[in-house]
Amino acid sequence: MTWLITGGTGYIGAHVARAMVAAGERVVVLDDVSSGFPERLPAGVPLVRASVQDRDVVDATLAEHGVTGVIHLAAKKQVGESVEQPLTYYRENVHGLTVLLEAVAAAGVRRFVLSSSAAVYGMPDVDLVTEDTPCVPMNPYGETKLAGEWLVRATGRAHGISTACLRYFNVAGAAAPELADVGVFNIIPMMFEKVTAGEPPLIFGDDYDTPDGTCVRDYIHVEDLADAHLAAARWLTAQDGSRDLTLNVGTGQGVSVREMADLVLGVSGRRDLTPVVEPRRAGDPARVVASCERATRELGWRARHGIDAMVGSAWEGWCRRHPEARGVAGEGARSA
Ligand SMILES: NC(=O)c1ccc[n+]([C@@H]2O[C@H](COP(=O)([O-])OP(=O)(O)OC[C@H]3O[C@@H](n4cnc5c(N)ncnc54)[C@H](O)[C@@H]3O)[C@@H](O)[C@H]2O)c1
Repeated sequence: MTWLITGGTGYIGAHVARAMVAAGERVVVLDDVSSGFPERLPAGVPLVRASVQDRDVVDATLAEHGVTGVIHLAAKKQVGESVEQPLTYYRENVHGLTVLLEAVAAAGVRRFVLSSSAAVYGMPDVDLVTEDTPCVPMNPYGETKLAGEWLVRATGRAHGISTACLRYFNVAGAAAPELADVGVFNIIPMMFEKVTAGEPPLIFGDDYDTPDGTCVRDYIHVEDLADAHLAAARWLTAQDGSRDLTLNVGTGQGVSVREMADLVLGVSGRRDLTPVVEPRRAGDPARVVASCERATRELGWRARHGIDAMVGSAWEGWCRRHPEARGVAGEGARSA
């Protein structure tokens, strides 16, 4: 097998490339480097700098590298931006996927893995979200992920391609500081940003129907997520004829926003700061925690890392890019 990883210079894609190479798989990466960093790639992995929307380059890459399976991570991923720029999100995440699938079907590639998201579920009103929980996305980003799943499954059935759609929950942590996420769009880096500025982390709403009143989420270490891709790739390789699999990838454990604030204050040495409670934000579900039974049953995969490892490794990555964060922590610890 040779696996094409689209978006392989991104935060998650680079971890997937690393896990695949470590497991002895042959990989090639196609990435337009719009939000990725080539230096994240393991040594020796070929990088084709192009958009998945460039059909000629995709065709040539599949042929030249003898690609037999695709792991498609290339996408835009910011919920707020998707509300302001839905056309960009549909073009990148849905049209881009269509072009890629056309090339895959034409080349006779028989294995395809799609990066999907818990955003497809919207505001699930259940204790544990299973893959059968209704999908009601609340924003264009989630819509493009759900439409992407439909496209992948329909194409798989029509063209004899085995497919896996992996619905990631909240991805966190890093295998090494230089592989960390650089965005400040979710709770952990947003809290890191606050404490680095010497300010308390913010909690949006503490009157939800949850044990401590704050929202509860399921965080998955990016290394565990990368292993789930490897397991899915191996599962697809083992199938005779076309099969499709849709899987949640999380831990099944909920962590509240207040618990997360405590973890961030601990790792940053800023226990002198007290989180500030702000009003609820529109569209935040109270609790989104995955049931991961299907992934364990089908792939034999389960998450190994806990929340401390996620926050600790994310902090190391943050401090690499924000060396002042360690200084601020030192000052906080001295003045506390
Ligand atoms: N980070 C999360 O918490 C999370 C959660 C659920 C799902 N996802 C999905 O995981 C995937 C990867 O996310 P990430 O966090 O690594 O984001 P990222 O922005 O770090 O990585 C995306 C990569 O895709 C590349 N890319 C974007 N558009 C492209 C195009 N048209 N052609 C070729 N390359 C292109 C970018 O340069 C980047 O390297 C995305 O599909 C995202 O929707 C992420």
